[in-house]
Amino acid sequence: EKGGYASFMLKEIAEQPKAVADTLLGRIGVDGALTLDELRIPAAVLKAVDKVVIVACGTAFHAGLIAKYAIEHWTRIPCEVELASEFRYRDPILGGRSLVIAVSQSGETMDTLMALRHAREQGATVLAICNTNGATIPRESDAVLYTHAGPEVAVASTKAFLTQLVACYLVALYLGQVRGTKWGDEIRAVIRDLAAISGEVGRVLETMEPVRELARSLSGKKTVLFLGRHVGYPVALEGALKLKELAYMHAEGFAAGELKHGPIALIEDDLPVVVVVPSPRGRSVLHDKIVSNIQEIRARGARTIVIAEEGDEAVVPYADHLVRIPATPTLLQPLVATVPLQVFACELATARGNEVDQPRNLAKSVTVE
Ligand code: F6R
Repeated sequence: EKGGYASFMLKEIAEQPKAVADTLLGRIGVDGALTLDELRIPAAVLKAVDKVVIVACGTAFHAGLIAKYAIEHWTRIPCEVELASEFRYRDPILGGRSLVIAVSQSGETMDTLMALRHAREQGATVLAICNTNGATIPRESDAVLYTHAGPEVAVASTKAFLTQLVACYLVALYLGQVRGTKWGDEIRAVIRDLAAISGEVGRVLETMEPVRELARSLSGKKTVLFLGRHVGYPVALEGALKLKELAYMHAEGFAAGELKHGPIALIEDDLPVVVVVPSPRGRSVLHDKIVSNIQEIRARGARTIVIAEEGDEAVVPYADHLVRIPATPTLLQPLVATVPLQVFACELATARGNEVDQPRNLAKSVTVE
């Protein structure tokens, strides 16, 4: 069943290029535009949306955090992302023009289900992004966009996360396409890049041996920190979550700009810090700022593990370990940047003797509130 892999998690990590490609299949037309008629939300409703709220838990919440950057950039519709378990307890402001997106691999997460019920009661249109056909969350939603990751068996979400990202990008780009924005040309270009991204994910997977080796060498550590900014910030959160749940280590993700507001006090000699570096192209200001962050933490003794685009030479002098990822458009980088963090957590957990498919205290689908 594991197809020759030592764990379902390793198998599912390896399946990511296919999962990503399958989630795009049939959704990009021959003219290069998106064809998401399957949503069956009338264009008039999509055009009238004045607010998007994403609700989800855990890894799916991290996909939602990334989606916010994409949705606000390509559509200029304000977007909030909220933990489903918090959402309905604070009297959120919703109405007939709100689009609520519930992201859930299993489609059975009780917190997310209760959040979407609350949203529908307030008159919002609810769109589910889900990996499980006919699950409760898509059944109770107005519309659904299925991710085609295939069954995910390992408790820690990997391929489902990448496909949730793809689905979120599709929704963001489609909203932009339907409503028409000044980003029309960029949207068409990104759809082309998205179509090629599964190959890039495959290329990352082929270069993971040094990451595995590094992970094994860190198995005796107590803490690992993760830094990122822009869409790299949720990637850092996801890297930390994977390490907590699999390796049972203390791991925290921070927005790199927040370092000076507190977390930098945690830096001590030989503390491993993983840094997700934004592309030096595009929003290069962010790139330069994060390079200074890497210098700052390294000057205080951190062992820097730098995830940076191919060709980014500025990081080289400050990287104790350098992990290369392919160049992608800024907003799509999480699709390639997350993969090394999954491999890192899986290998480190295995080196610590943990059972990666069934981490202690966790269930694949959390059907209680
Ligand atoms: C982490 C993980 C969990 C789930 C969360 C939501 O690896 O798997 O954090 O992402 O419990 O589950 P779904 O997506 O099924 O609603």
